[in-house]
Amino acid sequence: MRALITTKDGSVEFAEAPEPRRTNSELLVRVSASTVARGDLNTARLSPPGSPIGLDVVGTVVEPAVDGSGPKVGTRVMGYTSTRAGGWAERAALDSSLVVPVPEALADNVAAALPNSGLAALAGLEAGGFLLGARVLVTGATGGVGRLAVQLAHLAGANVTGLVSSRQRHELLRDFDWLTTATADEAEGPFDLVVDLVGGDVLSRAMSLVAEDGVLASLAQTVPETASVPSFWFAMHPGARLVSVTNTRGQREAGRGVRRLELLAQLAETGRIDPHVTGAASWEEAADLLAALGARELEGRTTLRIS
Ligand SMILES: NC(=O)c1ccc[n+]([C@@H]2O[C@H](COP(=O)([O-])OP(=O)(O)OC[C@H]3O[C@@H](n4cnc5c(N)ncnc54)[C@H](OP(=O)(O)O)[C@@H]3O)[C@@H](O)[C@H]2O)c1
Repeated sequence: MRALITTKDGSVEFAEAPEPRRTNSELLVRVSASTVARGDLNTARLSPPGSPIGLDVVGTVVEPAVDGSGPKVGTRVMGYTSTRAGGWAERAALDSSLVVPVPEALADNVAAALPNSGLAALAGLEAGGFLLGARVLVTGATGGVGRLAVQLAHLAGANVTGLVSSRQRHELLRDFDWLTTATADEAEGPFDLVVDLVGGDVLSRAMSLVAEDGVLASLAQTVPETASVPSFWFAMHPGARLVSVTNTRGQREAGRGVRRLELLAQLAETGRIDPHVTGAASWEEAADLLAALGARELEGRTTLRIS
């Protein structure tokens, strides 16, 4: 089958790839759409050349899982490949714990922007526990995960602040009249929960904004710089915790991954969350889109049509 794979210079190229090998709980999907996200850029830059790439999948089930779990053949589905990637291919394997039917009214390109980013946003917010009335800060709020995280936190009843990289970037979040936006210099804590999606200096700054007994949940792999712990942080933030969060952990437990994907699909279908898809491009343009994402030139999510 035709697939995009990683190259030695941190990009992607087309190749003739073998059909995905599947476990008993994985079904085979003919892919129609995917997304270009930061995780894909990291795959391109950090995986060995020749690796599969692509975390989000929308498509049609063409072969069921051997164990009979998951949606039936012929169902239009959306799913998350997890760390195996491979969504930028004609066919992809999805574990039945991370795939759900797509509601009829939800377009392919909107559905494709939900699995990886939505699961990450929910995992980050979950680290904060009870969110009604909580003070929540999301860094990297203009990104794909960040936009979903601020909207989901707002739906959960939190008072939400989105950290943006510059004053000009405030504009990208203007639709959310309930959202406070701030640059790292402007932000005023304390926050009960910080979801960090940037890392480096932003993470260091975020640490100084956490409340006593607050949680800083980091999913960030955006900037390569090392973060440093602000001086007197331990003394000044008693009970505060820095926790590592991923969207891969615990998704199989009690059907959590499926319930979360269903929730994301339902919220997007009814207009309560918007992943801000600003473009849909052919997968022939994937290399250019990855370069644009790396240069911070993409606004909103761009989805890929796979054909
Ligand atoms: N651990 C997991 O399971 C998991 C899952 C999904 C995602 N993630 C991570 O979550 C993060 C967000 O992913 P994404 O797909 O939303 O990425 P994205 O769309 O590229 O968004 C990145 C965000 O970071 C900001 N940013 C980039 N470089 C910055 C810098 N030098 N200083 C300050 N802000 C900067 C961007 O702001 P501008 O608008 O100014 O460029 C944007 O708001 C990534 O680190 C990704 O790897 C982790």
